[in-house]
Amino acid sequence: MGVAEVFDAAAGGYDGARRRLVPCFDAFYGTAVEVAAPPLRAALAAGRTPQVLDLGAGTGLLSLLLAAAVPGVRPTLVDAAPAMLAVAADHLRSRGVTHRTVRADLADPLPAGRYDAVVSALAVHHLDDAGKRDLYRRAAAALAPGGVFVNAEQVAAPTPELDRRYHEVWLAQAAALGSDADEIAAAEGRMAYDRPAPVTEQCRWLTEAGLVDVDCFFKQWRFAVLGGRRG
Ligand SMILES: C[S@@+](CC[C@H](N)C(=O)[O-])C[C@H]1O[C@@H](n2cnc3c(N)ncnc32)[C@H](O)[C@@H]1O
Repeated sequence: MGVAEVFDAAAGGYDGARRRLVPCFDAFYGTAVEVAAPPLRAALAAGRTPQVLDLGAGTGLLSLLLAAAVPGVRPTLVDAAPAMLAVAADHLRSRGVTHRTVRADLADPLPAGRYDAVVSALAVHHLDDAGKRDLYRRAAAALAPGGVFVNAEQVAAPTPELDRRYHEVWLAQAAALGSDADEIAAAEGRMAYDRPAPVTEQCRWLTEAGLVDVDCFFKQWRFAVLGGRRG
C-alpha cells in the first residue's frame, strides 16, 4: 500500500482521532494559523481574495482553521488521497468556503498561481529529504511577494536517544487523552511511512529556498511549526 491508500483507508475516522493523536493540537495548528494570517489579512485589506495553497491537505483541517480565522480566504487543497479530499470538500462546502481540490502528488508541479500563503500540516514528512528540499523551493517560488510559507510538521529529534523519548512521550500523551490500543496501533502503522527530518536542517532548507525570517515558531516534542516569508 502507498501512503495515499493508507490515508484513504483512514479517512472516515481521521478527524475524530486528531485531538488525541496530536496532543498539542490547539497550540500546534493555532501557531500555524497565526504565522499564515498576516499576508491573508493584508490581501483582504487590499481588496483581493487571499489565496492559500494547502499541501497534503487531507481532510482540510488547516484550511478550515484558516478560513475561520480569516473569512474570505480561498484555499486550494492538494493531496494524493481522494477520500481525504472528499471529506475536506464536504467540510469546506458546509461552511461556505469557496475552495478547489487537486488530486496530485507533492512531487508533481504545484497548481499554478501566486499564493499569499502556502501551508502544510503533517504531510511533508512523508517525502524523503531531497523531496522536502525540492518542495520547499517550489513552495517558496509559488508565493506572492510578502507571502508566507508555514509547515506544521512532525519532526525528527536531533539524536536517536531523543527520538525514542519523543515516541515515549507521544504514546503516554495519546493514551492519557483516551487513545486506545487499536487507535495507537493504527497511527503507528501510518507512521511506518514517515521520514521526518530535524528542525535545524529544515530551517536551513527553507533559507536555501529563498525565504527570509525563517524560524521554528512552535515546538513540543515531535510537533513543530516551521516557516518563513518571501521577501
Ligand atoms: C497526516 S495527514 C495530514 C492531513 C492534514 N494536513 C492535517 O493536518 O490533518 C497526511 C496527508 O498527506 C497526504 N500525503 C502524504 N504524502 C503525500 C504525497 N507524496 N503527495 C500528496 N499527498 C500526500 C496524505 O494523503 C494525507 O492526506
